Amino acid sequence: MWGGRFADGPSSIMREINASIPFDKKLWRHDIRASLAHVAMLEEQGIVEAEDATQIIAGLNQIAQEYEADGVPEDLDLEDIHMHVEARLSEIIGPVAGRLHTARSRNDQVATDFRLWVRDAMDMVDSALATLQLTLVDRAEEHVATIMPGFTHLQSAQPVSLGHHLMAYYEMIRRDRSRFADARQRMNESPLGAAALAGTGFPIDREKTASLLSFDCPTGNSLDSVSDRDFALDYLMAATQCSLHLSRLAEEFVIWASQPFGFVKLPDSFSTGSSIMPQKRNPDAAELVRGHAGRIAGAMNSLVITMKGLPLAYSKDMQDDKPPVFEAHDLLGLSIAAMTGMVGEVEFSNSRMRMLAEAGFSTATDFADWLVREAKLPFREAHHVTGAVVSLAEEQGCGLADLSLDQFRSIDDRIHDGVFSVLGVDASVASRSSYGGTAPEQVKVQIAKARKALAPES
Ligand code: ARG
Repeated sequence: MWGGRFADGPSSIMREINASIPFDKKLWRHDIRASLAHVAMLEEQGIVEAEDATQIIAGLNQIAQEYEADGVPEDLDLEDIHMHVEARLSEIIGPVAGRLHTARSRNDQVATDFRLWVRDAMDMVDSALATLQLTLVDRAEEHVATIMPGFTHLQSAQPVSLGHHLMAYYEMIRRDRSRFADARQRMNESPLGAAALAGTGFPIDREKTASLLSFDCPTGNSLDSVSDRDFALDYLMAATQCSLHLSRLAEEFVIWASQPFGFVKLPDSFSTGSSIMPQKRNPDAAELVRGHAGRIAGAMNSLVITMKGLPLAYSKDMQDDKPPVFEAHDLLGLSIAAMTGMVGEVEFSNSRMRMLAEAGFSTATDFADWLVREAKLPFREAHHVTGAVVSLAEEQGCGLADLSLDQFRSIDDRIHDGVFSVLGVDASVASRSSYGGTAPEQVKVQIAKARKALAPES
């Protein structure tokens, strides 16, 4: 099946394995931007004549227009995006094009282009995540007082506010954004001018190119500049962590949308029907967000293993840094958009959630706490009395709030009729008013804080 490859001879195999243009053409905007900064600096430093620089700049701008209009051509002989731009430039302006590559190498060029790309990617993720957060906060506010069962071990534990549950994801995304912001700040140094590995003898101004490209400063070690890809790994690690959070929310939607739970109806726009079972509505988008998290973690793993054990400085293995980052970025962007859509449009079944919150003796802890507070029992003893009351209710086939005072007192005569005030789910939720707790009054505090953090800086 692959015989044709060999028949074409070794040069054709080499051309194919060596070429990165099929994927690195995504870097074209960043490549041209970096070249424009480089040539402006070369001119300012007197390394390239003004007329030559003017021609180079015009040529680069023309290439940008061509690529914008018609896409980037793919010529495997020209290997990568850097050679494509350079070759096209010499077609347009002739031999003067060759002056652009003074005092640089493809090694610092690719390190610069890729940093610029990853930096843009981080900014895109940050703004998409801010929109997701705002959507979570809106839905949380709407459901501050909606009661649902809170779970541990996926067993009903204590009733909680749905708004509180949604705000848990707001917090996760807040930390995800801070991981991207942290990575962005760390990577924002310009490798341009490191040249092949050792720097250059030309009197370049690295501060100048750094500032033209909105980097904070130039990098301090030329070997490091061309050989590390930790900025791409920082992106992938932050993306992996973020995708895990999205995947957990997606998983909740899958569970909540199943008939035995019936907590939510997922929007039509994010569900599909079954080809043979007309009653079905499958949570495909949520399942794919869950699936994509696996692929994003795989992309991270791929670059980790590519980089492990490479000696300084540049090695061609590093050309393989781009596909995993591009793939992870596309998958993460889609996952964030899908979760934002689902969170925004999902219909919650308040009555179903309340019914299940009331089942399973979910206020047993409230009863035990009441015994400690009002009837002055030590907690251990209260725990024991509560166990006996739960058994009695189980025997009677009713909830705690349905037992009579006599029935309570048959177990412990220190119980009085004040007990009924804590057996309902609303009272239970309202009572958990410690900072960060599920009481609606506390959830509102966190929502106000979130709104303030999300408000555009004025
Ligand atoms: N296409 C290459 C990459 O993505 C550019 C750098 C090539 N450098 C070299 N010395 N062959 O890594």
